Amino acid sequence: MTEGHLPVMAEEVISMLAPAPGSLQIDATLGGGGHAERILEASDPDGRLLGLDADGAAIARVRARLGPRFGERLSLRQANFRQLADVGPAAGFGAVDGCLFDLGLSSFQLADADRGFGIRTGGPLDMRFDAGRGVPAAELLASLDAAELTALFRKYGEEPFAGRIARAIVEARRVAPIRTAEELAALIERVAPGRAPGRRRVHPATRVFQALRIAVNEELEALESGLAAALDLLRPGGRLVVLSYHSLEDRIVKRFFQAERRGCTCPPEVPVCVCGRAPRLRLVVGKGLVPGAAEITANPRARSARLRAAERLAA
Ligand SMILES: C[S@@+](CC[C@H](N)C(=O)[O-])C[C@H]1O[C@@H](n2cnc3c(N)ncnc32)[C@H](O)[C@@H]1O
Repeated sequence: MTEGHLPVMAEEVISMLAPAPGSLQIDATLGGGGHAERILEASDPDGRLLGLDADGAAIARVRARLGPRFGERLSLRQANFRQLADVGPAAGFGAVDGCLFDLGLSSFQLADADRGFGIRTGGPLDMRFDAGRGVPAAELLASLDAAELTALFRKYGEEPFAGRIARAIVEARRVAPIRTAEELAALIERVAPGRAPGRRRVHPATRVFQALRIAVNEELEALESGLAAALDLLRPGGRLVVLSYHSLEDRIVKRFFQAERRGCTCPPEVPVCVCGRAPRLRLVVGKGLVPGAAEITANPRARSARLRAAERLAA
C-alpha cells in the first residue's frame, strides 16, 4: 500500500474510548487522521479533538482533509507527545475524557522516499518524525563506534547479529559513508543470514531499521513521558487507549498500566503502606486486544498490533 493509512483496530478503539457528544479527546499520534475522524464522528455533534503529531506533514495533511468538515471541533498542533503536559492545557485540553496513542509510523511516512523509513522504499537515511529536530539515522551510523552500534541494535531491535552488522558498518564507512536505506539494507543482507526455514518472511534488515528509528526519535523515552502526561490530563472515568506494534513498546505500556493500577510503591516487606499512592487506573481489558484475522488480511500493518485500554480513577 503506498497511498493512505488504514486506522488499525478502529472499531475497538472507538468502543474503548466511547467518545460522547460534548467530550474532549486527544489523539496524540494523528498520522493520517483515520482514528481522529472516527472519534469526531462518534462524538457528533459537538465533541472536540486535539490532534498532535511530531511530523508537520501529517498535521498539514489532516488539516486539509478534515479541517473543512469539522471546523472548530478539531484543533491541531505539531508537537511531540512528550510535551503533552504543556500542549494539552495550552490548547484548552487540560482535563479530557479520552486519549489515544497509536504508536510508530504511518504508511505515509513509510512510503516517503525522502525519509528513509522503509527498507523497500529506500531514500536518504533520515528517519526523524520531526525533520527539524534531532540527528538523522545516517549521522548515527557515521558517528557511533562498533560497540555503541551493537548495543543500539540489541537494545532497540533485539537483533541477534548485532555485533556482526555493527562491525560491517564500521568497515564499510571507512570506504564511503552509508547514506541511504538501500545501502544499509544491502549491507545487512550481505552479512546477516536470511530468514530461518519456516519463519515468517521478514527482511533481514527489519530489526536494524526498527532500532535506528527508535533511537533517532527517542521513542521509548517519549512514550514513558507521554503516558504519564496523558494520565494527568484525564478526568475520572476518562479512557487511555494505546496501540503498540512491538514488544519494547508494549512492555512499557503494560508496566505503566500495572504500576498505576497498583498505586502503592512500598517494598513488599513494609507491612503497611507508607507511600500513600492510590491506584489511578483500572484496566478495561486485561491482557490487551489483538486484531482479528479479517483485519490482518485487509491491512497487514495491523498484524503486530496490541491494544491496551485503561480508565482513570478518581485518585
Ligand atoms: C501509526 S501513525 C498514526 C496513524 C493514525 N492513528 C491514523 O489513523 O492515521 C503514528 C504517528 O505518530 C507520530 N508520532 C510518533 N511518535 C510521536 C511522538 N513522540 N510525538 C508525536 N507524534 C508522534 C508519527 O509521526 C505518525 O504520524
